[in-house]
Amino acid sequence: MAKATFHFPRGFLWGTATASHQVEGFNTNNNWWAWEQQPGRILQGHKSGAACNWWGGKWREDFDRAYESHQNAHRFSIEWSRVQPLPDQWDNASLDRYREMARWLVDHNMTPFVTLHHFSDPIWLVEKGGWETDEIVGYFEKYVKKVVDALQEYVSLWVTINEPNVYALYGYLFGLFPPGKNDLRLALKVMENQVQAHAAAYYAIHEMQKTARVGAAINIRPMQPARPDSLADCMIARMISNQVNDFFPMAFSTGVMRFPFRRKSLPLAKNTQDFLGINFYTIEDVSFNLNKSRNQFHTRFYPPGVETSETGFLANRPEGMFNVIKWAKKFGVPIIIAENGIEDSKDTLRPRYLIEHLHQMWRAVNFNFPVKGYFHWTLVDNFEWERGWTQRFGLWELDVETQQRRKRPSADLYAEICQENGLSSEMTARFAPELLEKIFPD
Ligand code: FCB
Repeated sequence: MAKATFHFPRGFLWGTATASHQVEGFNTNNNWWAWEQQPGRILQGHKSGAACNWWGGKWREDFDRAYESHQNAHRFSIEWSRVQPLPDQWDNASLDRYREMARWLVDHNMTPFVTLHHFSDPIWLVEKGGWETDEIVGYFEKYVKKVVDALQEYVSLWVTINEPNVYALYGYLFGLFPPGKNDLRLALKVMENQVQAHAAAYYAIHEMQKTARVGAAINIRPMQPARPDSLADCMIARMISNQVNDFFPMAFSTGVMRFPFRRKSLPLAKNTQDFLGINFYTIEDVSFNLNKSRNQFHTRFYPPGVETSETGFLANRPEGMFNVIKWAKKFGVPIIIAENGIEDSKDTLRPRYLIEHLHQMWRAVNFNFPVKGYFHWTLVDNFEWERGWTQRFGLWELDVETQQRRKRPSADLYAEICQENGLSSEMTARFAPELLEKIFPD
């Protein structure tokens, strides 16, 4: 075995990513809480409940875990429904709490990376039409200004919207997220409003804070034609990929929204990403399917033989990490891997998944693709949306009943990586020896 360490550039950000509704607990005033009360919406009828009890104070000990395991950054999100419980009401105590969290990180030399919208919406906003109506742009801008005003002393790295693509498609086409609709026209309208709201937030933040760096985090899923020699598969894979992956970064870079059969220009959105946040989990195969008219004539799946996660939700296809970074280079802005991880309660796959994905990221860095940081999803097991508690993405295991945390081996592996600012053959030998020959060949 060759002995080697693959190092990352100085100042590289290493952290974990979290989201308010998934960790805080008792977010009773948002659309997800309401959704969880409806039978059949969440797997096994699970509810977010106390979640990781961050709002009850557990954030501090979890931040400690991150700090003690050498992470130098943390991504967390602000819960709109706490900050603005009613249209004309702002909750300063909540803003103070977020300020305290951001300040804690800064005091511990950790860079706060703050998401302004991560899937959940206040009930009052939904009642006013949410992201379906143009008014969202003004509402979002106002909310963003309030948060930035409160946090700007500590935070300068902002994600406006997390996975606008997933929000629009899951909520308005697949029906898996609230409001549970299946309406392509509406999904596209929501996407358009998201572009507008992002652009408005981008300018608002920059007006308030000279040093701000503002971007979005997009879920990027490379779509591979299932049969590479089938023209239909190739065309549909390209079309779906344009819609899912390219739409937002393209709009934020060129000011042009490329809908399936038309384009719409929104010059205000041009050059409104200072970085591109990428949430990368897996690659999917796509095949043309005439029977799927309600799903844009395609099926997506993992091919047989590919290693999948515990519930079959994700496939371990690490080459995608290199490919998405290479793809993202064309936007000409720094890249942050804002999420990457795997559900694995027993932690048998995670060490391997982590090492292989970081190896691919390291390869990309060595092509001088401008990757600036990596945020593992996630710190502690959390409430995974419509999949409830059935999926365990944490470096720490959570007993939801007792709120006890237990460290998984991957937490130690990741701590060593963060401390070293690199991945070594020696770590690989201890945590995933089966990868040694592949990643560190003689
Ligand atoms: C992403 C979401 C995040 C988490 C992971 C597993 O799509 O942004 O909240 O649920 O998937």
